[in-house]
Amino acid sequence: MPERLAEMLLDLWTPLIMLWITLPPCIYMAPMNQSQLLTSGSPLELNRLSEEQRVLNRSKRGWVWNQMFVLEEFSGPEPILVGRLHTDLDPGSKKIKYILSGDGAGTIFQINDITGDIHAIKRLDREEKAEYTLTAQAVDWETNKPLEPPSEFIIKVQDINDNAPEFLNGPYHATVPEMSILGTSVTNVTATDADDPVYGNSAKLVYSILEGQPYFSIEPETAIIKTALPNMDREAKEEYLVVIQAKDMGGHSGGLSGTTTLTVTLSDVNDNPPKFAQSLYHFSVPEDVVLGTAIGRVKANDQDIGENAQSSYDIIDGDGTALFEITSDAQAQDGIIRLRKPLDFETKKSYTLKVEAANIHIDPRFSSRGPFKDTATVKIVVEDADEPPVFSSPTYLLEVHENAALNSVIGQVTARDPDVTASPIRFSIDRHTDLERQFNINADDGKITLATPLDRELSVWHNITIIATEIRNHSQISRVPVAIKVLDVNDNAPEFASEYEAFLCENGKPGQVIQTVSAMDKDDPKNGHYFLYSLLPEMANNPNFTIKKNEDNSLSILAKHNGFNRQKQEVYLLPIVISDSGNPPLSSTSTLTIRVCGCSSDGVVQSCNVEAYVLPIGLSMGALIAILACIILLLVIVVLFVTLRRHKNEPLIIKDDEDVRENIIRYDDEGGGEEDTEAFDIATLQNPDGINGFLPHYRRGLLGGVSQDAA
Ligand SMILES: *[C@@H]1O[C@H](CO)[C@@H](O)[C@H](O)[C@H]1NC(C)=O
Ligand SMILES: *[C@@H]1O[C@H](CO)[C@@H](O)[C@H](O)[C@H]1NC(C)=O
Repeated sequence: MPERLAEMLLDLWTPLIMLWITLPPCIYMAPMNQSQLLTSGSPLELNRLSEEQRVLNRSKRGWVWNQMFVLEEFSGPEPILVGRLHTDLDPGSKKIKYILSGDGAGTIFQINDITGDIHAIKRLDREEKAEYTLTAQAVDWETNKPLEPPSEFIIKVQDINDNAPEFLNGPYHATVPEMSILGTSVTNVTATDADDPVYGNSAKLVYSILEGQPYFSIEPETAIIKTALPNMDREAKEEYLVVIQAKDMGGHSGGLSGTTTLTVTLSDVNDNPPKFAQSLYHFSVPEDVVLGTAIGRVKANDQDIGENAQSSYDIIDGDGTALFEITSDAQAQDGIIRLRKPLDFETKKSYTLKVEAANIHIDPRFSSRGPFKDTATVKIVVEDADEPPVFSSPTYLLEVHENAALNSVIGQVTARDPDVTASPIRFSIDRHTDLERQFNINADDGKITLATPLDRELSVWHNITIIATEIRNHSQISRVPVAIKVLDVNDNAPEFASEYEAFLCENGKPGQVIQTVSAMDKDDPKNGHYFLYSLLPEMANNPNFTIKKNEDNSLSILAKHNGFNRQKQEVYLLPIVISDSGNPPLSSTSTLTIRVCGCSSDGVVQSCNVEAYVLPIGLSMGALIAILACIILLLVIVVLFVTLRRHKNEPLIIKDDEDVRENIIRYDDEGGGEEDTEAFDIATLQNPDGINGFLPHYRRGLLGGVSQDAA
């Protein structure tokens, strides 16, 4: 009796559950041809069948829907009834036996072979296996003969909320710029829930913030995290820890939850201006410091970081803007003050500068907060230093005429000691720059004088260096270049520019130009050269030649008549006076040699006299005579040599020597005796002129004197 009651209760209970769990998902139902399997929930489920299926139901073979449901994780005192197999075959007197096979048959699912009740004898986990496919068959109890073909059906495991949401990618990190407006999206997070997302709310998640308010908020459905406060300041707090919770069952109580952490870092924006650490800086610098030297550093602090803290430094005002400059050191983010122009303690002993630091990367959103710059005052004190003498000019250019008298003053340099002590100065010439000691300098007054004569035609420039030394401190030395230019004086007469050789054709015509000559002058007059040409006054009316000056300062020589004849006169000499335009002018006479030659009808020189033929290879008349004389002399020596060798067998040189001496001694014997031999200069003997008879005449004269004395 109690068993029956329990069964009845179960019968009642099961449909109720089935109703509850089968409502949301759609239920797959299909007619079955052979057998009609009916779950225990069928009477109720029938009410929900479509019209079409109702019609089917009324047919003789009936119908079945081939799936059952069972709750996962069910753990009652007894096995849970999943459903019941039933066939509406009329078995007659035969007893029917139900057989179950397939997934989990006998191990998970057990069938009562008489009633057809199927029980789950194990806990089921939907997340492990969501459905089982089984086969049911009705057989004859006694014969085990199938009463109909086997039918397949499915047992689906019904989800319960047995899994909590999980943040698989946590913990999270995100960055949002400081000073963002309220509601600025920071990031979003995602939790997952292993429960059935299609069925029920077990996987329906709702997000909330457990920690991190009031700074951040989260959208419950989308899990988008946003700023909940405007203008959060990185300089006040840079990092926030946010704890996020995801809760299933749509957030309702009883749901499961999971949490994660999100670290939000505020990134920097330029919302802070630079600010000088000091409003007044003091620096001091010796006056002789090298240009470009760093004198001091100023620094404006900035609470921002990175490029938002970068400032450029400028000198915007003050009395030393021209002398100092400031450069920005991006590394140290400070400004370096450097010297740009030389300082002079004696002129100005202190300077004041107004320096400015201005942010380079301005954010227009904050520019209304005021200028992103700051100013400070810099005072620079100049310290005295012992300085070398200073010349009145960095270079000197002096000019002197080449005929300037010795010891005349060419120019003067001056220098002074810039220091307060003002030591006297002594001057000297750096002799390495005046090796020829062309100049002198007065050590006291710096006057440069001429020591040796100048010649512009030798050297136009004399560039020397003058040294100034402080008397009180010999290590204080300065040097200055002095360029001395030698000015021209007309001290050179013009002459032919080259050695001209003129030829005159016998068949030439009167007025024909024989030769064009030009002149040169070593001087360098300011307005260039202008030459005057003339014939010698006594030859002014030369019947044979005339001259004509050309535009270009050259001169043409013309024949006055024709009929020149080599037989009559081979060579004419024409002296020409050339005069320059100096003050006073200088002139010289150059002689042009004109040779008469035979020419072709078109005026090409064909034959001149012998000299004229030789001349083109570059030998003058004098040279020819010299060569001729040499040849004759050589011949004489050869003849002499041959003759002497025939007469005697002794070596040639000794014999020759004795020969000469014999002759001389013979003269001596005739004259004043042994002493007189000493009157002979052996060098005179070596002179060929002596051999040519001059010497004997001289000796005779002497002899004459001696004889007079004797008389
Ligand atoms: C000397 O100095 C002058 C002027 O500076 C310059 O023109 C000239 O070339 C210099 N001469 C020599 C030989 O250095
Ligand atoms: C001119 O030429 C003639 C012969 O051709 C000569 O006798 C005379 O000396 C020449 N006069 C001068 C000045 O050379």
